[in-house]
Amino acid sequence: MKTIKNYVEANQQRFLDELFELLRFPSVSADSAYSDDVRHTAEYVAQKLTDAGAENVEICSTAGHPIVYGEKIIDPAKPTVLVYGHYDVQPPDPLELWETPPFEPTVRDGKIFARGACDDKGQFYMHIKAFELMQATNTLACNVKFMIEGEEEVGSDNLGVFVKANKERLAADVVLISDTAMISLDTPSLETGLRGLSYVEVEVVGPNRDLHSGVYGGAVANPVTILAQLIASLHDENNRIAIPGFYDDVVELNEAERNSLNEAPFDEAAYKADLGINALWGEKGYTTIERTGIRPTLEVNGIWGGYIGKGAKTVLPSKANAKLSMRLVPNQDPDKITALFTKHFERIAPAYVTVKVTPHHGGHPAVTPTDSVAYRAAEKAIEEAFGKKPIPTRGGGSIPIVSLFENELGLKTVLMGFGLDSDNLHSPNEKYDIANYFKGIETIPLFHKYFAELS
Ligand code: BES
Ligand code: MN
Ligand code: MN
Repeated sequence: MKTIKNYVEANQQRFLDELFELLRFPSVSADSAYSDDVRHTAEYVAQKLTDAGAENVEICSTAGHPIVYGEKIIDPAKPTVLVYGHYDVQPPDPLELWETPPFEPTVRDGKIFARGACDDKGQFYMHIKAFELMQATNTLACNVKFMIEGEEEVGSDNLGVFVKANKERLAADVVLISDTAMISLDTPSLETGLRGLSYVEVEVVGPNRDLHSGVYGGAVANPVTILAQLIASLHDENNRIAIPGFYDDVVELNEAERNSLNEAPFDEAAYKADLGINALWGEKGYTTIERTGIRPTLEVNGIWGGYIGKGAKTVLPSKANAKLSMRLVPNQDPDKITALFTKHFERIAPAYVTVKVTPHHGGHPAVTPTDSVAYRAAEKAIEEAFGKKPIPTRGGGSIPIVSLFENELGLKTVLMGFGLDSDNLHSPNEKYDIANYFKGIETIPLFHKYFAELS
């Protein structure tokens, strides 16, 4: 621990400078206008892996954005850790809500503000610096393989292809990912599950053109009104999702499992104050921890239609649209849920309109074991670095590739995340505590050490 701490202390400024350089690349995977920036980011990551001592570093082209691979095999008899992360980021808009520009990392109050600071550049880069540390101090205990992709935020389709085509190269004993959250630096935790995702876009079409709302209003159904009614009907009075069959495959936790989940500290007043809301909402009969961890949900991500420009325009719009996402839990299947949604939405559409449902990417939920050698190694590493045993929690977000690692590579994952739920992921003013960054760099070598010892 002393060697680790000394090395981190001696290199703090450089570790920060390098992360800042990484954060300055606008690697937005969703928008093709940024394709060159995404590639330059991959080049930077590959260079940093090489500098840290990785071998066989390669920028692997895909049908989309490239995947950066690198490895260090010290001894085939030793266990192998496959580190996964993503260098792509979500679009930064709405830009006007950022206090400082998203791709100009700025420190305020001990936190780095930038798009990707926490999700996931700040987190995967800790692994490259921890690897550098282990190389430099001659303490590498496991073989390491890095796979850092550029399409996580758009569904990882091409990574799926890559994994299937590179099973041998990716052979390992465990996948280690830092792309989730912990409760706080004072209350470390390990996520033991991720939700799945089904994402759809809907269009409601009424008259064949926009109409004068005075001339036609009253006689023709307004697609925006109809869409609002349809969306409102997707939850019942208990805030359960009103799609027939939606809950059929949901695994219900038993009393003991629910009690243990609810033992995690949760300050409802602080939670509401942080979000500026007066009351919480959710499925009747479940706590907030359960609603965001072990229960499925349906959210409207965006809704539009009609005139939204300056001033007033009296129009009865021809169309209305919305994007909706459903978070899934074991054993819900994203394709099945998308099909159930589509069938239901088409069935409830009234005769005044036609509706169209277009599926986007989806992902399977995942649970990670808490009785494995890898989990125990993570637990010991965190306990040593933080002075407290981590609490197991269930994460609300999704990393669709985790279930593919299990199905294609036969590998379980450890979700050793160092972010906070309040780090504004996908939102303006994304941030990452500098303290978490350095703490992560200290914890990762301990994971490798204990994983080798316990294996
Ligand atoms: N790192 C997040 C997932 C996450 C965040 C897990 C917080 C647990 C806690 C990841 O980058 C992400 O945002 N995933 C997307 C899914 C993807 C298919 C767009 C998500 O969860 O919306
Ligand atoms: Mn992420
Ligand atoms: Mn994300």
